[in-house]
Amino acid sequence: MIGRLIMALKPKPVRASRTQLADLMAPPDANIRGTVFGGKILAMVDKAAAVCAMRHAGQSCVTVAMDRVEFLVPIHMGNVVSVEAQVNYVGRSSMEIGVEVYAEDLEKGDRKHANSCLVTMVALDAKGKPALVPGLLLETPAEKERHAAAEVRRGSRKK
Ligand SMILES: CC(C)(COP(=O)(O)OP(=O)(O)OC[C@H]1O[C@@H](n2cnc3c(N)ncnc32)[C@H](O)[C@@H]1OP(=O)(O)O)[C@@H](O)C(=O)NCCC(=O)NCCS
Repeated sequence: MIGRLIMALKPKPVRASRTQLADLMAPPDANIRGTVFGGKILAMVDKAAAVCAMRHAGQSCVTVAMDRVEFLVPIHMGNVVSVEAQVNYVGRSSMEIGVEVYAEDLEKGDRKHANSCLVTMVALDAKGKPALVPGLLLETPAEKERHAAAEVRRGSRKK
């Protein structure tokens, strides 16, 4: 039992849980101007963050916070939206997931950065209580930078 717990909490590299989702924007996803609803993009962000967190934690996770979300460019019906999520930081039961959104116009061959967002997910045990998550192995300078920035954010949030 203890051996299984130690194995489950063995630190994992960021790459092990990196997650990408893509979807083609269709008429039900857009308003009468043909631009995609913000809520559609937020649902994709939430789903990618949840898959990423659950891959890292190896157990079910819930969204506890989303930081300020800005839509940088309009996303149009017919665009392919790609959402990329990775773990920036892990605490005891929480994980900060960094999510990037890209909108691609396949006819023009043009891919634009549309959104960046930070999502905090918490792992839950079978009783719905916060559960310990594995540590994070940082392998690249970019991962170390994102981790350091997340640590500062966590510090200021706790204050
Ligand atoms: C997730 C939940 C179980 C946490 O309960 P809690 O009583 O706040 O638990 P804790 O105080 O022990 O916090 C657990 C972790 O979440 C973090 N956390 C809690 N609120 C947070 C917030 N607003 N922002 C960032 N992190 C937060 C804590 O820092 C802690 O992190 P750590 O374990 O890594 O140190 C509870 O808030 C909940 O059920 N929320 C609803 C989740 C949900 O249903 N989401 C879907 C949206 S509809």
